[in-house]
Amino acid sequence: MDRSNGLFGVYVHWPFCAAKCPYCDFNSHVHRGAFDEAEYVAAYDREIAHAAKQAPERLVQSIFFGGGTPSLMQPRSVAAILDSIAKHWQIDPNAEITLEANPTSVEAERFRGYRAAGVNRVSLGVQSLREKPLAALGRLHSVDEAVAAVRLAQSIFPRSSFDLIYARPQQTLEDWQDELTEALWLTEGHISLYQLTIEQGTRYFDLHRTGKLKMPDEDLAADFFELTQELTAAAGLPAYEISNHARPGQESRHNLVYWRYGEYAGIGPGAHGRLLVGNQRHATATEKLPFEWKKRVDARGHGLVTDDILTWEEEGDELLVMGLRLREGIDPGRYQALSGRAISPRQIADLKGYGFLETLPNGNLRVTERGWPVLDAVVADLAA
Ligand SMILES: C[S@@+](CC[C@H](N)C(=O)[O-])C[C@H]1O[C@@H](n2cnc3c(N)ncnc32)[C@H](O)[C@@H]1O
Ligand code: SF4
Repeated sequence: MDRSNGLFGVYVHWPFCAAKCPYCDFNSHVHRGAFDEAEYVAAYDREIAHAAKQAPERLVQSIFFGGGTPSLMQPRSVAAILDSIAKHWQIDPNAEITLEANPTSVEAERFRGYRAAGVNRVSLGVQSLREKPLAALGRLHSVDEAVAAVRLAQSIFPRSSFDLIYARPQQTLEDWQDELTEALWLTEGHISLYQLTIEQGTRYFDLHRTGKLKMPDEDLAADFFELTQELTAAAGLPAYEISNHARPGQESRHNLVYWRYGEYAGIGPGAHGRLLVGNQRHATATEKLPFEWKKRVDARGHGLVTDDILTWEEEGDELLVMGLRLREGIDPGRYQALSGRAISPRQIADLKGYGFLETLPNGNLRVTERGWPVLDAVVADLAA
């Protein structure tokens, strides 16, 4: 049985940031001292060559520069990495090429350079359209700068998106209604809306633990989520994934590669991948510390610290975890083909009984809006 669904994307992680935001636990580092960007770009080239040896002859349908802050890269570095990808794989002429950008004015100056390099979509980390929360989130841009960056991006790139964080300390439902309404006027076809989560190892984690950061309780968080669904749907950008909203046809194709459980190569420090090697799905991860990653690549041509073959059961579990985030749901037939077993009809019936799960006319199983707030529990029940 062919374990591929034909989807293939490349994720490129750029791990550097101008400052560390107090809520963020992504693999991001503020580099101090000498830093030679071209040397890093050469290491990306070598790691791409290694991934292409593991998974040759793929058609790349999407490329995503994520971070960290890829908008700190020189446009020529982005162009060089795209050239490396094109040297080792065929890039679909219609490929979606996204770059994550922070909306400071300095970074906006590079937008035309990224477009010339081949980037055709940007995703901007706006986070809030209010000054006080922006400062509390430790952001380096103002609201005006963010709005100007969104407008500039819309004028330069065929597609763009921006991120907001909601359910923040002290935020009321009324505040969010006003802020989101403004954001929906500003957006063109796609917006990502994340509820603030408190992650271990961040400054927010310590503040929260010591009672200095009051988060909304479960009921209020559920109200925030419900309001978000209502406003986005009314504006014509319904959720296609739990935190992602788009006009039909404007969904992020790269993220769909993950959620539809396709194949992707993870390049750069701390990047994850899922590659089919000899029809076995490998879960890969690279060294997170940039300097250590580069040393490894220099020594062995790749920065992999994990390269595990997944069991069929693990593949089935991952398909559920990823696919049930989507409004389109999952194909139970593919689950059975990958995992070698069917989802228990009793579990399905029980969850349908609670109103958490439904079968669509095409046979796909999906979590209902009522089930979304308890998504993790639904996935755990189906995987059991
Ligand atoms: C890792 S960031 C990279 C993008 C870019 N560096 C930026 O900050 O705009 C990707 C997105 O994750 C979201 N994010 C990061 N940490 C979060 C948290 N603790 N809670 C909710 N959203 C978070 C933010 O919306 C951010 O735009
Ligand atoms: S939120 Fe973005 S800018 Fe802030 S530390 Fe994380 S990756 Fe860097």
